[in-house]
Amino acid sequence: MKRHLFMAAVAASLAFGGAHATDLSKARYLAAACANCHGTNGNAVEGGFNLAGYPKDRFIDTMAAFKSGQRPATLMHQIAKGYTDEQIATMAVYFAAQKKR
Ligand code: HEC
Repeated sequence: MKRHLFMAAVAASLAFGGAHATDLSKARYLAAACANCHGTNGNAVEGGFNLAGYPKDRFIDTMAAFKSGQRPATLMHQIAKGYTDEQIATMAVYFAAQKKR
C-alpha cells in the first residue's frame, strides 16, 4: 500500500514537471473540484470540455472572463468566483501538465 502511494506520487510529480510536492497536492486538491464535470485530471467524458492539456494562459484568461462575467456561462461564472487568482494560476499549471487521453 505504502509502495503504491509512493509510486503514484512519483508519477504525479513527473507529470507535474518537477514542482514541489506541496504545490502538487494543492493543485490536485483544487482540480478535484472540477472532476465531476470535467473528468479526472481534466479528461472529460465524451461531449464535455476537456481541461487536460489546456494551455495555461488561455486557462487563466478564460477563468478571469468567467469571473468578470465577460464570458457568458451557465455555471462557470459562479464556480470561477470561488477561486483566488493564485489558485487559478495553480490549476492552470496543473491542467496544462495533464496528458490528454
Ligand atoms: C457543475 C459542473 C462543473 C464544474 C464542477 C466545473 N465546471 Fe467548468 N464548465 C462547466 C460548463 C457547463 C462549462 C461551459 C460554460 C458554462 O456554461 O458555464 C464549463 C466550461 C469551463 C471552461 C471553458 C472550457 C472551454 O474550452 O471553453 C473552463 C476553463 C472550465 N470550465 C474550468 C473549470 C475549472 C477549473 C473547474 C474547477 C475549479 C470547473 N470548470 C468546474 C461545468 C463545470
